[in-house]
Amino acid sequence: MGTTAAEPATEPDVDRLRTAMVARLKEQGFLCSPEIEAAFLAVPRERFAPEADPVEAYRHNEVVVTRRGADGRATSSISAPWLQAEMLAHAALRPAERVLEVGSGGYNAALIAEIAGPQGTVTTVDIDPFVTERARRFLTETGYGDVHVVLADAADLPDALGPFDAIIVTVGVWDVAPAWIDRLVPGGRLVVPLRFGGITRSITFVKDDRGLLLGHHPTVCGFVAAQGGCAHSEQEVALAGGQVTLRNDDGPHLDAGLLERALRAPRTELWSGITAENGEPFDTLYLWLMTADPGAAGIIWQDLQCDVSLVDLALKWFNPALITSDGFAYLTVRRTEPDPATGAPGWEFGVHGHGPSGDELTHRFIDHIHHWNTERRRSREPSFTLYPAGMEVERPTVGRVYPKAASQLVMLWEP
Ligand SMILES: C[S@@+](CC[C@H](N)C(=O)[O-])C[C@H]1O[C@@H](n2cnc3c(N)ncnc32)[C@H](O)[C@@H]1O
Repeated sequence: MGTTAAEPATEPDVDRLRTAMVARLKEQGFLCSPEIEAAFLAVPRERFAPEADPVEAYRHNEVVVTRRGADGRATSSISAPWLQAEMLAHAALRPAERVLEVGSGGYNAALIAEIAGPQGTVTTVDIDPFVTERARRFLTETGYGDVHVVLADAADLPDALGPFDAIIVTVGVWDVAPAWIDRLVPGGRLVVPLRFGGITRSITFVKDDRGLLLGHHPTVCGFVAAQGGCAHSEQEVALAGGQVTLRNDDGPHLDAGLLERALRAPRTELWSGITAENGEPFDTLYLWLMTADPGAAGIIWQDLQCDVSLVDLALKWFNPALITSDGFAYLTVRRTEPDPATGAPGWEFGVHGHGPSGDELTHRFIDHIHHWNTERRRSREPSFTLYPAGMEVERPTVGRVYPKAASQLVMLWEP
């Protein structure tokens, strides 16, 4: 049973909404432990998001924005329940543990407090006094006054904080602050939405005895961007008045004028003959593109509020692309005939290219799709290891090193 927009928004029965949200999370496979399920049933989410209609606050895939910057972009929110459930599960929290949450709001800290129990300790840190003030107030009002709410830039944690058995970062960061690694005990878990290749993936790292972080479970997710010492700006170009945006984190300089002209010019269209079933995930295709074409791999997305006819993206948001200074090529899909055995329709991958380099990029992209299909599609997703910056790192046979400011992220595929 799920909640729908058709339900009355006035004086809804929040207990029923909470139970329905938990049922939906369970149905979709996001609740895999009784402790996490009990936490979601116990904490009144609507009390941490008074600006939202309770029906909206309890949608399992809905974010509640609680603060915006001068440019209108969200700077704080209560994250979507499915993502909170997944990050809590990956953090593998146990009773009596010491847990740090980076980025406050109150709700997620209360969930952590439920799981850590009375013997555990929960600290939540936020850079914004507006956020810490309300988080503290809401936590006290709902019976979680023991959660330690700290106003600080998480890049520079106060000395008194730590050590921690687990750290859950709930803001999108481009790098992992050395302080988080220092304050984590050996064997401790760090769940962090890390930005690389223009996309944020929540990765779960475990700290080994050498102080290295071994990562797994890369989940594509959206988070508000970090501020202060954790902030990082990426190369982004908005075209057609913001209808289409290109982002390339570590490629060549993007020329907005040339790319605008490229978007308006006739495009190259090529189909790969490679198909996917309805709903089949293909996230490793983008990870493969980042490995095989490191200088050009980026993403393209379109404005979801308007009817964009200039591009035909496979995914409207976070769509894989190859981008150069004067052209780009992106992943598209078209429906295939229904499978004779199941009757289910599928999708064929194709590529559209724009600009002087668009044709060459399109052929290159199609080659990458073929290579991914034969070599990587059915193999395990790559693993991730985080090394300190400056440490000598062996180049992976198949993989890629992302140099960051304080660390180096190594993505490694099985040879
Ligand atoms: C998505 S919200 C946190 C959501 C929250 N954990 C919840 O209960 O769902 C992200 C928060 O990170 C905070 N933030 C951004 N940069 C930060 C930094 N450098 N240090 C600490 N907090 C930061 C923002 O102010 C924002 O409140």
